[in-house]
Amino acid sequence: MRAAIVGGGFIGNVHIEALRRLGNIQVIALCDEYGVKEKAARQSIGHAYTDYRKMIDELKLDVVHICTPNSTHYEIARYAVEKGIHVMCEKPFTGTLDEAEELTKLAEKKGVKGAVNYHNRLYPAALQMKHMISQGDIGKVISIHGTYIQDWLLYDTDYSWRVDAEKGGKTRAVSDIGSHWLDLVQFASGQKIRRVNARFSTVHPFRKKSIKMEETFSKTEKKRYEEVRVDTEDIAAVLLEFANGAIGSMTVSQVFAGKKNAMEISIAGTGASLWWNTENLSELYIGHRDKPNEILTKDPSLMCREAASAIGFPGGHAEGFADAVKENFRQFYKSLEQEGEYVYADFQDGVNGMRLCSAILDSARSQQWVSV
Ligand SMILES: NC(=O)c1ccc[n+]([C@@H]2O[C@H](COP(=O)([O-])OP(=O)(O)OC[C@H]3O[C@@H](n4cnc5c(N)ncnc54)[C@H](O)[C@@H]3O)[C@@H](O)[C@H]2O)c1
Repeated sequence: MRAAIVGGGFIGNVHIEALRRLGNIQVIALCDEYGVKEKAARQSIGHAYTDYRKMIDELKLDVVHICTPNSTHYEIARYAVEKGIHVMCEKPFTGTLDEAEELTKLAEKKGVKGAVNYHNRLYPAALQMKHMISQGDIGKVISIHGTYIQDWLLYDTDYSWRVDAEKGGKTRAVSDIGSHWLDLVQFASGQKIRRVNARFSTVHPFRKKSIKMEETFSKTEKKRYEEVRVDTEDIAAVLLEFANGAIGSMTVSQVFAGKKNAMEISIAGTGASLWWNTENLSELYIGHRDKPNEILTKDPSLMCREAASAIGFPGGHAEGFADAVKENFRQFYKSLEQEGEYVYADFQDGVNGMRLCSAILDSARSQQWVSV
């Protein structure tokens, strides 16, 4: 299989390394707007492009991985799909719901497979939760709640393309990190969210964006800023109603000091409950009322078949973020070669994620419940 990556930033490098660990995929090209020759050389990738169209036209590719800012996903995915190339797209799927729906239809028409990298599904604990809930181990799901919190935007001098609605999208905390939480709880519980009621808070309505000094090599260089208006939320609190009547809530924040990237989910059933968080990936808590609680530690010999198949090392050997991404790609590439049951998020799941983000934004604006 021959893959190419568009966007050689944070997650682009994670994609490259994950693909190489799978062994049957060659990463033959990297496309990036800036410094692509150096970025490709650092990763020992043979072809470097600044224009994804040229790359797709010139090379024989099986899959294009889209690892660029959110607003660019649609045009890059569309170009690849039109040429009959499979797509692994980063989340959130696109900039707008319309774009997501259009791409999904186009991929179907062209017979092209598409995935959105909701990699959290491939943590062993996530697969174990899904398995336990689907076979009735916790009874009927009655509530789901949790958080996804970070601190990298705490100060008004913190800035990135994610803050800019033109590049990141009209919601920020919700689509950047909330979309992972929303996808995961629906995946694990088997329950779709049917209504939402959201409140947003923008703690810094103005942020200081750094201006690059002309005299790059000046020793007296000081940071200079321009003040820019921010329309996207730093914090969101969302009430949720699930298809089976379960209720719940999600709080997301990018301004919570001390939490670097902490996602937590709690799912309560009529018989037992489950809770898990990404700061302690290897331990799944199983809560009981009439007997002591249990902690299921990541160990292929103790977990269900689906979870065990996503574990690379024996119990006690840490696995994490990069491993879940690798397992997500393993599933996707296998699905290109043979029919089967796969749990990766496909384009339709990407549409569902966009539909939810859009409903949450509508609710935050109208201050009303909104159906998804
Ligand atoms: N699944 C996850 O957990 C996860 C984690 C991080 C980021 N992401 C997603 O990945 C995407 C990228 O995020 P990131 O943190 O890697 O950003 P980043 O800023 O670190 O990297 C983006 C790269 O894309 C390049 N780029 C921008 N526009 C381009 C274009 N038109 N053509 C080619 N290259 C272009 C930039 O030069 C940069 O190198 C976003 O959609 C983000 O939401 C997902």
